[in-house]
Amino acid sequence: MDSNKTNEQNCIISTLCTISGVKGKCHELCPHWITIHGATGEGGRLFAANIPRQYIHTTLSNSAVEESQPEVYAIIKKYVESFQKMFDPTLPEKDRIKSLYLYSNTTGTGKTTTAISIANEYLKYHYVGSIKRGLKPKRRPVYFMGMNELQTLYSEATRPNVPKEIAERASSRYYENLEAMKDVDFLVFDDIGLRSSTEAFTSDIHHVINHRNTTVKPTIYTSNIPLQDIGSMYSKQIWDRTRDMCLEIAFSGESKRGFRR
Ligand SMILES: Nc1ncnc2c1ncn2[C@@H]1O[C@H](COP(=O)(O)OP(=O)(O)OP(=O)(O)O)[C@@H](O)[C@H]1O
Ligand SMILES: [Mg+2]
Repeated sequence: MDSNKTNEQNCIISTLCTISGVKGKCHELCPHWITIHGATGEGGRLFAANIPRQYIHTTLSNSAVEESQPEVYAIIKKYVESFQKMFDPTLPEKDRIKSLYLYSNTTGTGKTTTAISIANEYLKYHYVGSIKRGLKPKRRPVYFMGMNELQTLYSEATRPNVPKEIAERASSRYYENLEAMKDVDFLVFDDIGLRSSTEAFTSDIHHVINHRNTTVKPTIYTSNIPLQDIGSMYSKQIWDRTRDMCLEIAFSGESKRGFRR
């Protein structure tokens, strides 16, 4: 380890950390860094949250998307201030942290990047806020799941003529994911409405969303379908309730995929 090199550029909690950038203290052996990022920088709570590898350093302060979506980021920065409410479970339902629905009709406008930066902010506030309050931070306060990944697991588990061990492994991972999605405090559900799905799969998704609505747990959905049309793909009743709990934010512009600054 290079003792002159500090680690604040890599660590998502650095903006809330009192030893951020302090030589001899802010390094890869910091116990908080290891808890959040893992000993190798590819583990810890970010791994438990299923945050895709390319996004483990992404937060609202460094997201490349802000420059081209300034109005969206102004709303989201305000929204993130509401995270202080996570430590007050007695708040009435109408005052709890809201859900978000990030939508654009074109792809590659930064919805997934932004959803994960918000989830990482939640993780960061939860971790630092718990320690400040003398509480034990949860191992998995946030979870990321993409519709594509979930549906692939479902297909692997249910498709005929798949070797038994593969089907069983997919099935147990599928159900573990559904449980995590239901119970986690803060969920990113990416690309909702992406593919046409079977009735049984749709029913599992309803169950997750309904459970989160009933227990008033915030969720960030990303989608290429406007919120008002998604009810026709899923249960109208569930989506009417979801709509009441969601702030819809539209991303504009052309695809920035492959764009490098
Ligand atoms: N506004 C932006 N400025 C700079 N880079 C961006 C912007 N939006 C997206 N990107 C980059 O483009 C790539 C795709 O972004 P992302 O996956 O977040 O878009 P998306 O809206 O979720 O796309 P999709 O609709 O296909 O799910 C990422 O590498 C991201 O960093
Ligand atoms: Mg996306």
